[in-house]
Amino acid sequence: MKAVAVQAFGEPGGMAVVDLPVPSPAGGQVLITTEAIGVGGVDVLIRRGALAAYGFREGHVLGGEIAGTVAAVGDGVDQAWLGRRVWAFAGAGTGGGYAEQALAPAETLVPLPEGVSPVDAVTLGSSGTVAHFALRHAQFAPGESVLVRGAAGGIGVMAVQLAARGGAGAIAVTTSSPERGDRLRQLGATHVFGRDGEGAEGYDVIVDIVAGPGLPSFFAKLNPNGRLVTVGVMGGDPPADFGKELLAGFRRSLSFATFSADTVPMADRTAVTADLFAGRLRAVVHGVLPLAEAASAHRTLDAGEVFGRFVLTTASFSGARDTAGA
Ligand SMILES: NC(=O)c1ccc[n+]([C@@H]2O[C@H](COP(=O)([O-])OP(=O)(O)OC[C@H]3O[C@@H](n4cnc5c(N)ncnc54)[C@H](OP(=O)(O)O)[C@@H]3O)[C@@H](O)[C@H]2O)c1
Repeated sequence: MKAVAVQAFGEPGGMAVVDLPVPSPAGGQVLITTEAIGVGGVDVLIRRGALAAYGFREGHVLGGEIAGTVAAVGDGVDQAWLGRRVWAFAGAGTGGGYAEQALAPAETLVPLPEGVSPVDAVTLGSSGTVAHFALRHAQFAPGESVLVRGAAGGIGVMAVQLAARGGAGAIAVTTSSPERGDRLRQLGATHVFGRDGEGAEGYDVIVDIVAGPGLPSFFAKLNPNGRLVTVGVMGGDPPADFGKELLAGFRRSLSFATFSADTVPMADRTAVTADLFAGRLRAVVHGVLPLAEAASAHRTLDAGEVFGRFVLTTASFSGARDTAGA
């Protein structure tokens, strides 16, 4: 089978199409013939070598979120999954999804309902689940004001929609251009700010996908009893003295938290993913490219041009629709 591996950390050109043996599902696993593969910020970080400390080495096959058809099941897995179209988490976070066939733990499977294409599924599934639990981690309640920092990405567009569906009083976003801001308004944003957040003040909840040097300035934008939850690090590390800013907010009872979906039991995650598929949320697909053009997809991500989710498809997939600009 064909797969795309990171042969050399760094630029997208370090990725290459490779031939690999079709893997066999071990006990508790399934083999999925992939149709759609989600491309996200975490793939970019792994490709650059930024997550080498987490065990991601050169030669790694990227790709966590896939949708396709169950082709084989390992010991202990219900045979009824065979032939079903599903969403799954390839390698349970260890990758392997940028491939024509990929292994996934059976516990991560979510059936695709009628009307949800594989492309939609990998756009809504993981990003939406992270956004859902990030809002819950922040103890978001209806009527509260929310700021989503880094809102134009895969997680951000879902956080905006879920905050709107959850009855947020106001939904502010940061993004890099007025055009992207207009598209975020169509998803539910009520106030749009630049990446530096200048002019934004007073939020009960901040969902932050960026972190980086600007993190303290966003922490200072919280209302008393406000909660900032960092779910991503697209802007890198915060300043070394971030702890001082945390204590400067002492008398306003502010909370800072990180959130990783890794701490949520898989059964809870798949239940939310299934709920997202059934809900009326918009799958914001930036574009669809064949798997072999993964490097091109990464160049688009590196250029900061992606709005929503970029999706790769395999040759066997015939129903892909390019919804760039959706
Ligand atoms: N917590 C979890 O469980 C979990 C799960 C999966 C991924 N993640 C993390 O989430 C992050 C990826 O999120 P994603 O898939 O939504 O990313 P994404 O699709 O690449 O979007 C991130 C958005 O942030 C903005 N941005 C990018 N770099 C920035 C910078 N240096 N400064 C300010 N804004 C910047 C961009 O929007 P504008 O250009 O419009 O500003 C971009 O669209 C990664 O850090 C990944 O590790 C976390």
